[in-house]
Amino acid sequence: MLREPHAEDGPAVSALIAASPPLDANSAYCNLLQCSDFAETCVVAESDGRLVGWISAYRPPSHPDRLFVWQVAVAAEARGQGLGGRMLDALIERPALRAVRELTTTITDANKASWALFGAFARRRGATLTRTLRFDRERHFAGAHDTEWQASIAPLAFARSN
Ligand SMILES: CC(C)(COP(=O)(O)OP(=O)(O)OC[C@H]1O[C@@H](n2cnc3c(N)ncnc32)[C@H](O)[C@@H]1OP(=O)(O)O)[C@@H](O)C(=O)NCCC(=O)NCCS
Repeated sequence: MLREPHAEDGPAVSALIAASPPLDANSAYCNLLQCSDFAETCVVAESDGRLVGWISAYRPPSHPDRLFVWQVAVAAEARGQGLGGRMLDALIERPALRAVRELTTTITDANKASWALFGAFARRRGATLTRTLRFDRERHFAGAHDTEWQASIAPLAFARSN
């Protein structure tokens, strides 16, 4: 079952992220804010009462027609079955996100599963994925993190069912 999160999901969300390298672990407080203040743009997937999938996202205040996907995590035992893609589809089809025209995210070069996930999403939507530099290893991370490339997927309006 896919649904919006609530604050009580916070600990399970934090545990799933911690078990999903290479994702950065966030503070428990950060995940609680995502599960509450940003619930409208986040998704949890449950199976037999267990939280097996998570997407955090928000609409950047300067670009409310954009959805920035922060993290996607699928529990190891649930991977490769299309759950990541189904969560992205369910999110973009929410009536509250009707005005969204572009999905953006950032991905490191090495994360092949993530490129495949967002590439497949773009193809399903008949949209184009454009790759640009977002956060540079040296300039933005002081050498402590691989470069994050921004994937921008647009246009989204035409293929939407709402
Ligand atoms: C990335 C992740 C969310 C994908 O979830 P998933 O439910 O397994 O993805 P899906 O089953 O929907 O697969 C989506 C696409 O990715 C491909 N894919 C899945 N795992 C892959 C892998 N390890 N390597 C290459 N491609 C992969 C699938 O074949 C599919 O492509 P297709 O539709 O062209 O066949 C999951 O692997 C994960 O949680 N990884 C750890 C955390 C992470 O890296 N998150 C992404 C960064 S935000």
